[in-house]
Amino acid sequence: MRAHEAGALHADISNQGPAWLRTPADVNALVPALWPRSVTRGADGAVAVAGLSVRDIAAEFGTPVYVLDEADLRSRCRDFRAAFPTEDVFYAGKAFLCRAVVRMIAEEGLHLDVCTGGELATALSAGMPPERIGFHGNNKSVAELGRALDAGVGRIIVDSFTEIDRLTALARERGVRPRVLVRVTVGVEAHTHEFIATAHEDQKFGFSLAGGAAANAAFKILDEGVLELRGLHSHIGSQIFDASGFEVSARRVLALQAQIRDARGVELPELDLGGGFGIAYTTQDDPATPQDLAKRLRKIVDSECAAENLAVPHLSIEPGRAIVGPAVFTLYEVGTVKDLDGLRTYVSVDGGMSDNIRTALYDASYSATLASRASTAQPLLARVVGKHCESGDIVVKDEFLPADVQPGDLVAVPGTGAYCRSMASNYNHVPRPPVVAVRDGQARLIVRRETEEDLLALDVG
Ligand SMILES: Cc1ncc(COP(=O)(O)O)c(C=O)c1O
Repeated sequence: MRAHEAGALHADISNQGPAWLRTPADVNALVPALWPRSVTRGADGAVAVAGLSVRDIAAEFGTPVYVLDEADLRSRCRDFRAAFPTEDVFYAGKAFLCRAVVRMIAEEGLHLDVCTGGELATALSAGMPPERIGFHGNNKSVAELGRALDAGVGRIIVDSFTEIDRLTALARERGVRPRVLVRVTVGVEAHTHEFIATAHEDQKFGFSLAGGAAANAAFKILDEGVLELRGLHSHIGSQIFDASGFEVSARRVLALQAQIRDARGVELPELDLGGGFGIAYTTQDDPATPQDLAKRLRKIVDSECAAENLAVPHLSIEPGRAIVGPAVFTLYEVGTVKDLDGLRTYVSVDGGMSDNIRTALYDASYSATLASRASTAQPLLARVVGKHCESGDIVVKDEFLPADVQPGDLVAVPGTGAYCRSMASNYNHVPRPPVVAVRDGQARLIVRRETEEDLLALDVG
């Protein structure tokens, strides 16, 4: 990237696009890996989900709108359940949580991870059995821990010595024995296609393995005997495609398991390897199937347990993005199309960084298609941007759209189920979009659109 006095974003001016992005033979084609499973292009050229045209969805619910293919989400839950039949699959609710989704994942046999009181309240209010809830977080308050105990959550993943003390006091007061896992920082950082195994563990989550804190946390819990230590937990990153990061983390965490056995004579019965399994946002991504993942994770755990002479613990995983990410697309209406004299074409839509912060926050790549019609125009490399007062308000950095894309067209961005609505903001006082679930040709609102009245209701000054 060229240096530029106005900063990195301004330096990235080129109309070439990234090397992996190819001019499509058919600009109307939908790449199946990127879209919810029921998405097709109808005879009229408009994109349809579960048989319902996006034109009808936009007419009924407005834009922007997050569109959830319910059968797709359920089928991804089932794929994980089938691949991990004897393990526990915890859906990581931080990816996207609302009551309808809690019910869907509960009906499909998944467990649920929450990491705040708000997520816990949502899970409980939707009837998630508390024993199937895991509670995460590096700074759970005393009130949140108390609520978790009162609700009877199945396990709490402890993250600091302060938390162990707080939870121990709360458990003593209540006369209960909560089940806990110790979150271990294993010194593996995995993101997208790479992983780095580092000796130092400079991050806020968990207990350091290398520094001995993880072992000390386990010893403290075992020695005090108030909390029931079920096992160890490690989560190494996000959007991971390379299983070797899990291999290194499993080896390290199981070595700690052996150390605990040798020191205290206790073999912990559970092991959680976290989430972070990658999905396809663009054609450059090639995610593993749940079956592949299961095979690889089991092989890693089996061989590491054999090496340490440990019984294989009961395994759990925590996919968030891989369950909900591909099940959703965001539907926007185009407001303006600006051609910078051949330098770049900006297609502005009626949302942006308030409904999808990932591009600005993580430099994430997305795809897009003209959704309300098919076009016979040539493919044109475009940048899809939002309506916010930030030049970094980019939804899709580079994508081929038909050259006749125009105001009033609908554009759909796939892969927006995870960390988009859940990270949405009201920047520029833009109300957050609704979430609509579509199943068998029927659309149902599951999260309504925020209104200006909602925003003003908080403004009590
Ligand atoms: C502890 C833990 N588990 C699971 C997840 C889910 O990750 P993903 O949605 O990438 O699968 C996260 C994400 O940050 C996490 O912190």
